Amino acid sequence: MQSCRLLGAGPQLSTFCVLQKLSGTMFILCMVIMGASAFTVQPEQHTVAARNCQFRGKHFKKYYRVEGEPVVLRCPQARSWLQTSASSHFNTTWHKNDSGRMVPGEEEKRLWVQDGALWILPALQRDSGAYVCTVRNASYCDEMSIELSVLENTEASLPFTSYLQIVTLSTLGLLSCPELSEFTRNKTGLNVQWYKDSVLLDQDNRKFLSLRGTTRLFIYNVSVEDAGYYSCGLPFSHNGTRYNITRNIKVRVNQKEEEPIPVIVSPHQTILASLGSRLTIPCKVFLGVGIKSTSTVWWTANDTIIDSAYPGGRVTEGLEKEYSENNENYIEVPLVFDPVIKEDLKTDFKCIVTNRMSLQTLRTTVKEASTFSWGIALAPLSLVFLVLGGIYMYRWCKHRPEKGYSLTTVKTDHEDF
Ligand SMILES: *[C@@H]1O[C@H](CO)[C@@H](O)[C@H](O)[C@H]1NC(C)=O
Ligand SMILES: *[C@@H]1O[C@H](CO)[C@@H](O)[C@H](O)[C@H]1NC(C)=O
Ligand SMILES: *[C@@H]1O[C@H](CO)[C@@H](O)[C@H](O)[C@H]1NC(C)=O
Ligand SMILES: *[C@@H]1O[C@H](CO)[C@@H](O)[C@H](O)[C@H]1NC(C)=O
Ligand SMILES: *[C@@H]1O[C@H](CO)[C@@H](O)[C@H](O)[C@H]1NC(C)=O
Ligand SMILES: *[C@@H]1O[C@H](CO)[C@@H](O)[C@H](O)[C@H]1NC(C)=O
Repeated sequence: MQSCRLLGAGPQLSTFCVLQKLSGTMFILCMVIMGASAFTVQPEQHTVAARNCQFRGKHFKKYYRVEGEPVVLRCPQARSWLQTSASSHFNTTWHKNDSGRMVPGEEEKRLWVQDGALWILPALQRDSGAYVCTVRNASYCDEMSIELSVLENTEASLPFTSYLQIVTLSTLGLLSCPELSEFTRNKTGLNVQWYKDSVLLDQDNRKFLSLRGTTRLFIYNVSVEDAGYYSCGLPFSHNGTRYNITRNIKVRVNQKEEEPIPVIVSPHQTILASLGSRLTIPCKVFLGVGIKSTSTVWWTANDTIIDSAYPGGRVTEGLEKEYSENNENYIEVPLVFDPVIKEDLKTDFKCIVTNRMSLQTLRTTVKEASTFSWGIALAPLSLVFLVLGGIYMYRWCKHRPEKGYSLTTVKTDHEDF
């Protein structure tokens, strides 16, 4: 029962607790009947409750850091809400997977938890390993692990510690010093230093522009020689000790590729369909001649992607088809209605195609093609009015001098009809 008190400490007991209490009561009853002491099983129940924490797996990303530098690990499972006010309602704890030792342990000067994040300062190679972050409140608990690898600060570590960033030939390149947010929060006058192959890129370098107060570096008119290893660094002080935070970036220069602007050739702007029937509207896009395209085509309904607009699957996107006709490349994505309903007549459908250069849109609406049409029903009636109108005009012209008379004549005429 102790476990239950631990979990259900809040004013509202969770269902889990109620259930546990119930089963617990039954259990004790059983024990009493058997004449044994209920207390002997208490430790085991406690461990069940302690273990009752949902493990959400390993975070996909592995953190590579350099020895001697500050390292901050955040709980990967709940980044968004852990940084909000909700974080105060949760208790975040960290432990290392291999040793199971809690953090901070005996080295609390070097490893500590601050606002839920684990700080290691300075990091040592033996800090490498998996860390499990446990987030718990009165009724909920989950954990996730995150892997850290602390490497020696040598050139051999570069391939592991580097972030890949890509710039395009003959354009303005932009590099960004990654994962510094833990150290730049509430800081003004940020001064990130940039290096290329260990040479400082100073302010009056005409090729590069490091924007003060930001983590960015611009490269003017990117050339092939601009590829290679860059590093950026930020000084950081803690309790009077100065540290450097460095990030390595491997820069790749991509060829500028001109690509023709794709053209949506169908559908038509209105599609006729009968309610209750199946309908397929293909979106056909001309991609250009000969070359390989990076275009993607998709549909939206009221500016929402189809999967989200129709979770029930009544309207779906069919399979994408890419083909060539006389060396002209096309791509086709059908929109399938099974069946068409009234709502579709009021929905705004768009076929969208994007490639690296452009975004094209074609809008289409579904109109009802019913056998009964008001136009057809009203046609004879309008003919009658036309004839009447004709007669009236004729009379009016003929008796123009005697206005009052003409009116009565028309009236009589009408009655005759
Ligand atoms: C979090 O858990 C620790 C260890 O169980 C405990 O000492 C601390 O009081 C808890 N904090 C909150 C806010 O619940
Ligand atoms: C934690 O350690 C156990 C045993 O040492 C291992 O089986 C498990 O895969 C580890 N978990 C993670 C997330 O590294
Ligand atoms: C604990 O967290 C869960 C998940 O965010 C939430 O649904 C629940 O209301 C919280 N319980 C308490 C007592 O704060
Ligand atoms: C960019 O550099 C190329 C050679 O790398 C040169 O031909 C071109 O004129 C330069 N463009 C500008 C705008 O400086
Ligand atoms: C930080 O980097 C600067 C520039 O490279 C260097 O002069 C300084 O010694 C470094 N400090 C530490 C503590 O490594
Ligand atoms: C799209 O919007 C129209 C009105 O703006 C609405 O009648 C229709 O139901 C909407 N369709 C979908 C799929 O949400």
